[in-house]
Amino acid sequence: MMLPQKPEPRVFSGMQPTGNLHLGNYLGAMVRWVEMQQSHECIFCVVDMHAITVWQDPEELANSIRAVTAAYIASGLDPKRSILFNQSQVHEHAELAWVFNCVARLGWLNRMTQFKEKAGKDRENASVGLYAYPSLMAADILAYRATHVPVGEDQKQHLELSRDIAQKFNNDFAASIRKAGFEDGTFFPLPEPVIIGPATRVMSLRDGTKKMSKSDASDMSRINMTDDADTIAKKIQKAKTDPLPLPADEEELAKRPEADNLIGIYAALENTAKADVLKEFGGAQFSVFKKALAELAVSRIGPVNAEMKRLLSDPAEIDRILADGSRRARAIAGPIMDKVKDIVGFLRS
Ligand code: TRP
Repeated sequence: MMLPQKPEPRVFSGMQPTGNLHLGNYLGAMVRWVEMQQSHECIFCVVDMHAITVWQDPEELANSIRAVTAAYIASGLDPKRSILFNQSQVHEHAELAWVFNCVARLGWLNRMTQFKEKAGKDRENASVGLYAYPSLMAADILAYRATHVPVGEDQKQHLELSRDIAQKFNNDFAASIRKAGFEDGTFFPLPEPVIIGPATRVMSLRDGTKKMSKSDASDMSRINMTDDADTIAKKIQKAKTDPLPLPADEEELAKRPEADNLIGIYAALENTAKADVLKEFGGAQFSVFKKALAELAVSRIGPVNAEMKRLLSDPAEIDRILADGSRRARAIAGPIMDKVKDIVGFLRS
């Protein structure tokens, strides 16, 4: 198969297999990705190899991979139109990551803030994989010569590193890249982040200044994709607020994190702007607004939740979908990895 001289527009993104998906994941990532598949060639990867950079119980990991896959399909991701697969089934990710480990510099990785956070105080005891995490992420993207990467703000630094790796690879191997038939000496694109804006950032229901997170000790702080209607309604009713009625304008709203969060969630669920929500609810009491929000949330999450359950009742079918996606992913990554081997000087048969 001939590779195009210049990489064509292609979207790649990865999600960690964590069983506990919540409203923040749904509004912040899933809905956005599903939108992108309307206009772009998209590859979505469940990054199981990234997951094991910290300890994972094997049985739980397998179930989490299926759960995330089901959640994305339930949210509207079409596995026929886009490619949906799990990372470990496409060996090119690991192969390219090794090459990138030899391109990336220790100094670059030392600057990664996520490593510092995740490793914590006991750095000596962190896995080598956790340290090399960003070069595997670069390999995920570049194994497809992907050009656009939708990610949250927190992944920006990793994406910059991916660009640095692509750039250095292109520089270091420029002559060989030309010899391999890429006339302008560029093999990898510099992938662009498509930053998922703060507009879709969902905060904790207990503290409007903290991100909604699966690791928050209080389950009341988040709406899980598996919560039933009553639980969703109860969590919204109990969500932290301030004593004033809802403000009428956005400037006022920005000063009130809890109100801002709930209005933001409503706007995102309804797919409108916060200003529009304020037009309807500005000046209203929280009790009135929360009732409307609970109804809206149940009507949006309920069907996704039900579809997810239906899909998970047939794990073999999910495994088939992932196998099919992996096969299609390999069809793209294989020829690219072959070229990488030629460029680097590896012999292949
Ligand atoms: N590191 C990303 C996260 O934690 C997940 C990820 C892995 C990813 N590989 C990727 C995202 C490639 C985009 C592209 O959210």
